Amino acid sequence: ALGPEATLNIVNKAISPDGFKRSAVLVQGSHPAPLIKATKGDQFRLNVVNKLNDDTMLRSTSIHWHGLFQRGTTWADGPVGVNQCPIAPDRSFLYTFSAGDQTGTFWYHSHFGTQYCDGLRGPLVVYDPRDPHRNRYDVDDESTIITLSDWYHLPSPSVPVPAMSDSTLINGKGRYVNGPKVDLAVVNVRRGRRYRFRLVSLSCDPNYMFSIDGHKLTIIEADAQSTQPLTVDKIQIFAGQRYSFILEANQKVDNYWIRALPNIGAPGLTSGFAGGINSAILRYNGALKADPTSAQPANPKLLEEANLHPLTNPRAPGKPFPGGADEKYNFVLGFNNGDFTMNGVSFSDPPVPVLLQVLSGVQNAQDLLPSGSVYPLRPNKVVEISIPGGLLGGPHPFHLHGHAFSVVRSAGANATYNYDNPVRRDVVSMGDQGSNVTIRFVTDNPGPWFLHCHIEFHLAAGLAVVFAEDAEAIEFKNPTPAAWDQLCPIYERLPASAT
Ligand code: C2O
Repeated sequence: ALGPEATLNIVNKAISPDGFKRSAVLVQGSHPAPLIKATKGDQFRLNVVNKLNDDTMLRSTSIHWHGLFQRGTTWADGPVGVNQCPIAPDRSFLYTFSAGDQTGTFWYHSHFGTQYCDGLRGPLVVYDPRDPHRNRYDVDDESTIITLSDWYHLPSPSVPVPAMSDSTLINGKGRYVNGPKVDLAVVNVRRGRRYRFRLVSLSCDPNYMFSIDGHKLTIIEADAQSTQPLTVDKIQIFAGQRYSFILEANQKVDNYWIRALPNIGAPGLTSGFAGGINSAILRYNGALKADPTSAQPANPKLLEEANLHPLTNPRAPGKPFPGGADEKYNFVLGFNNGDFTMNGVSFSDPPVPVLLQVLSGVQNAQDLLPSGSVYPLRPNKVVEISIPGGLLGGPHPFHLHGHAFSVVRSAGANATYNYDNPVRRDVVSMGDQGSNVTIRFVTDNPGPWFLHCHIEFHLAAGLAVVFAEDAEAIEFKNPTPAAWDQLCPIYERLPASAT
């Protein structure tokens, strides 16, 4: 694992995680990227060095630290076109930020084009040595991380849409349909112990139905927010989401299948687990090194997000009725000539990142680029956003940067509104036809913040908007010299007079 102060070398290297060899975009040569392990209160100093040289994929880069709010450091958030310019080949960029009092399960990934689908993605955990809930669950071990990734045999710029992953990687290993029987990932446990497992979706597209044969999963965290314990047999996890669950190793000493079934993929990949696809192994200490013979729970109960509740401070901001907020946005999603739209506008990278426009004094909605996609927000307001579900290629998981939000209405045609104890998180599925997912947050964090579908191929096709939150209060505090130029190594600096 890497610590909060590290150099991340971004390199091209050929890997064959499922037995098929292809060139990838990697941090220190590994996929997933190494765990970044921090402790509550740490200061991060992450130097990203771009050594990419493979022209079949993007050669510039940038990194987003998904779920960290970047209070006072919006310039370090990562999205190209919103918060920074791409880091050009042979250049580096130093991200320095604090996670404040945030703790829990996060991840990091490229935020340039569809580059993270080529491998630049990994988990990031902020541990809390004084976690007030530590003893609540009597956990013996909380070191296990399970990552889920969709893997493509073509470089992401060449993947035809709709994108169909060739394999599902669990902790970086997996098999494709009719592929070689390469090793699967093994997660080791000891009978009689209790574990906190962290499940991280590094997905570019599919959502996964996740389960472990013979075991219940007690959820205690969603997207770095502690939840009241909820025991389920299966978790449906969308691109960018994270869960912690308690697993009691209370079954007989044996091997058990860990399963992650994608909702979309190459022919045969979505139909089950034949030949070890979509699988890994939970192995009890003392069990034979063999494949499991376990069966899936016969009558599985799924996680319904509406049943998840925050552990503390449960109420949603604003008044307890639809529209009971200071600002109300209803985004209608559309699809037009291969591009996605939000309220009729498809997001495309502006010539200058939104942050630099704002710092240059451009702050009116009508002047900000890309035009029609940037929404100024006033400070200290309750914002409510509704996005009806059911659009082609869905369900679409939306992620908001700079905040966690309360999900006052979850997916589902018959869902009801909940203002008393709605789950708080940073990625939520918009659901299918009839859904009207509604979220709320308070504008207490100045910065331009992306709101976008976390299916990377959809983001690349414009399924995004930007909120320019409290633009007047945004300060540029990058402590490094010549910081402004570093933000945009390959762009011309905006003339001071540009408005
Ligand atoms: Cu996980 Cu805009 O990102």
